[in-house]
Amino acid sequence: MQIHETAFVVSTYRSHHEEVSKDIYAKLWNNPSTDNLIPEIIENISKHEAVLHSIRNRFFYEQMRSFFLANNGGTLINFGSGFSMYQFLLNENVRTIEIDKTDIVAYKKEKVDLWTNEGKLPKRDIQYVSIDFTAHSKEEIVSSLKPYIKQGPIFILLEGVLFFLDLDTTNTLFKVFKELQQTGDQVGSVSYLPDIENTEVYRRLLHYFDANNNTNDPFMHQTIPHNFYENINGYFLKKISDEFELSKIYAPNMDITDRKEILNENLYILQKE
Ligand SMILES: C[S@@+](CC[C@H](N)C(=O)[O-])C[C@H]1O[C@@H](n2cnc3c(N)ncnc32)[C@H](O)[C@@H]1O
Repeated sequence: MQIHETAFVVSTYRSHHEEVSKDIYAKLWNNPSTDNLIPEIIENISKHEAVLHSIRNRFFYEQMRSFFLANNGGTLINFGSGFSMYQFLLNENVRTIEIDKTDIVAYKKEKVDLWTNEGKLPKRDIQYVSIDFTAHSKEEIVSSLKPYIKQGPIFILLEGVLFFLDLDTTNTLFKVFKELQQTGDQVGSVSYLPDIENTEVYRRLLHYFDANNNTNDPFMHQTIPHNFYENINGYFLKKISDEFELSKIYAPNMDITDRKEILNENLYILQKE
C-alpha cells in the first residue's frame, strides 16, 4: 500500500460511520479501488478500524469547533491533511491551510474546486501547500508557510501522520509549530503508545504494511510515549484521550470491550504557553 492510499482508506472509514465522524463530505472521496482494499484490512487486522477512525475524526472536529467558536474564527493548519474535510464542517470564518505531498494536494485541490463549483461543497478559504516533511529544514517549512498565515488564532492538526515519520522529523515539526503559533493557540496530535508494540493487533498491522508495501514508500511505524507530549518546549498538555475511552461516548453500541484488541490511538491537545 502506498502512503497516499492510507489517506483514501481513512476517508472511506469516516464515510462508513457518518453518524460518529459527523463528516458528511467524506463519501465524496469514495472510489472502487479503496473499497476493494477495505475488506482485506478489516479481515487481516481488526474489524473496528473504520469506527475508530471515525471516533478520532469526531474528537478533533469537536475540539476545533469549540476552539474556533470561542475565538470567532481563525486558521486551521492541517499537516498531512490527506482527504480530511474539516474545513467544510467548520464555520466559514475559519481559513484552512492544507499541507501534504505534491500529488495529494494537487489531486485534492482539483476535486475540491470541482465539487465547490458543482455546489457539492460550501465555499471556503483554502490554501494548498505541498511539502514533504522529511525533505526540509525547520526554517524552510516555516518560511514557506508564513506568507499564507493571515489570521490568528491558529489550530494545528497532525492527524494520522506521526506513524509514518521518524523522531527527527517529528521534533522538527513541533519546532515549526512553535514558530508559527502564539500564546493560546493549539495543536491536535495522534500517536500510538509504545506498549501497543506488544499486542497481536499491532503486529498484524505491521505485517499487513510489510506484505503490501509494493512501492517501497518509506514509513517508520513510529510510536510515542506520553512524556514526549509533556515535555514539548513552549507547550503544555491540555487534554489527552484515546479512542477506546471515546468509543464509550461516541459509539456506545459498537462491541469494543478490550483496548488491547484494537489499534487504540492516543489523542492529544497541546496549548502554546
Ligand atoms: C493516514 S493519512 C491521514 C490523512 C489525514 N490527516 C486524515 O487523518 O484523514 C497520512 C497522510 O500523511 C501524509 N504524509 C505522510 N508522510 C508525509 C511527509 N513526509 N510529508 C508530508 N505528508 C506526509 C500522507 O501523504 C497522507 O496524506
